[in-house]
Amino acid sequence: MAVRLVIGAQWGDEGKGKIIDYLANTSDFVVRYHGGNNAGHTIVNEYGKFAMHLIPSGIFRNNTKAIIANGTVIDLEVLLSEIKMLEKAGVKVKERLFVSPRCHIIMPYHKILDRIFEAAKGVGKTGTTGRGIGPVHADKVGYNGIRLFDLLNKKQFSKKLFVQLSIKNPILKAFGETPLDQKAIEHHLLSLLPKIKPFATETYPIIQEAVKKKKTIMLEGAQGVFLDNDWGTYPFATASTTLSGAATHGAGIAPQYITDIIAVAKAYATRVGAGPFPTELFDKTGKLLREKGGEYGATTGRPRRCGWFDAVGLRFGANLNGFTSLAITKLDILDGFGEIKICTGYILNGKSVEYYDIDAADLEKVKPTYETHKGWQTPTQGANKYSELPKEAKAYLARIEELVGVKIAYISTGQKRDEIIKV
Ligand code: GDP
Ligand code: IMO
Ligand code: MG
Repeated sequence: MAVRLVIGAQWGDEGKGKIIDYLANTSDFVVRYHGGNNAGHTIVNEYGKFAMHLIPSGIFRNNTKAIIANGTVIDLEVLLSEIKMLEKAGVKVKERLFVSPRCHIIMPYHKILDRIFEAAKGVGKTGTTGRGIGPVHADKVGYNGIRLFDLLNKKQFSKKLFVQLSIKNPILKAFGETPLDQKAIEHHLLSLLPKIKPFATETYPIIQEAVKKKKTIMLEGAQGVFLDNDWGTYPFATASTTLSGAATHGAGIAPQYITDIIAVAKAYATRVGAGPFPTELFDKTGKLLREKGGEYGATTGRPRRCGWFDAVGLRFGANLNGFTSLAITKLDILDGFGEIKICTGYILNGKSVEYYDIDAADLEKVKPTYETHKGWQTPTQGANKYSELPKEAKAYLARIEELVGVKIAYISTGQKRDEIIKV
């Protein structure tokens, strides 16, 4: 038995989808437990290329069952279109996907509120994905949420929606938006329900039974450590907890069952949306990383900001989350670089500081200190043996291990499933 937790160690988009799809061949269950369709997990395998927003990335392996557990927030239309997309590609979804009725539903007003809150913040905006993620979580913790449970009970849903519209419509009106119509929302969401119903089931007993029977479970994190609502670069963060601890309440599994915490990190760094990014490059190297790495958002298509690997951040993340191993992705993107840098320290007002010493406003101002490594000219693209790597690449990876204090278990060298080295 193993319960492997896979989380992003940077600002999201580290290549979690790729690693999960690879590891899922030895997983009985793959579970999404937080975030929502702000996530975009890219998978390239024998079925084609996909960006998964809600359904766990392990669904492509016939041996797995996929669970969208209670901690996840759901846009029903996105879920249905994902099911359709998979079925069209020949992936069986029926009887393999289980969705917790405890999941909160992203309502039409959440997406509008996301947009108007961002507009009100002007230049200080977070740069959200616009999927209603902040507002749906605000309603969840403020006892105003509507869950799949409610939708499954027409009367209860109608009552709750009435209350919510009495709260939301005055806000929408104040921002010059057209108020929403109860009947229209009810009609639309209830028309989707028959297609959702076959997948809705309490996921707690499934996971408990899997633990009891010593099955192998993979818990699929979304976003990344530095988008965490507490420890990330708040308010340039996401609304859910992205840390390892989130998996226990978000999936309904006790922490002692988690055997591995695999942190996925790019061999460099990227961020999409606003907020501090100490190692960001504004020069031609940053542009080269973006173009070579195809660094455009899997959910929104926005260009990602690019920079060097930040070992200060990663070391903090390792201690905070208890990483047991690292999966380093996109090593191939650094092929052909003359020099590669690693950030080993932050300087603020002439003094050395750690990530946790300062808030987002000061993190914007830190000057990173770098050590420079010799690049490699022999391609690593597609390599699947450690021995195939050029010595400079091995030295670079060894230094990352040393600085972060965690061993590398996987090195990804391309988009495709088999372009990976198991160390
Ligand atoms: P996720 O959100 O963490 O799953 O990551 P995304 O899918 O948003 O972004 C990662 C991008 O990098 C996707 O386009 C992946 O196909 C791609 N990718 C993942 N691993 C590798 C790799 O080792 N090499 C290359 N070239 N691309 C990779
Ligand atoms: P995956 O799972 C990268 C970022 C947004 C924005 C901030 C808040 O694919 O790694 P939100 O819509 O969540 O309210 O936006 O968080 N963000 C992500 N960035 N990858 C993601 O997911 C992200 N999910 C949210 O860009 O800065
Ligand atoms: Mg992504």
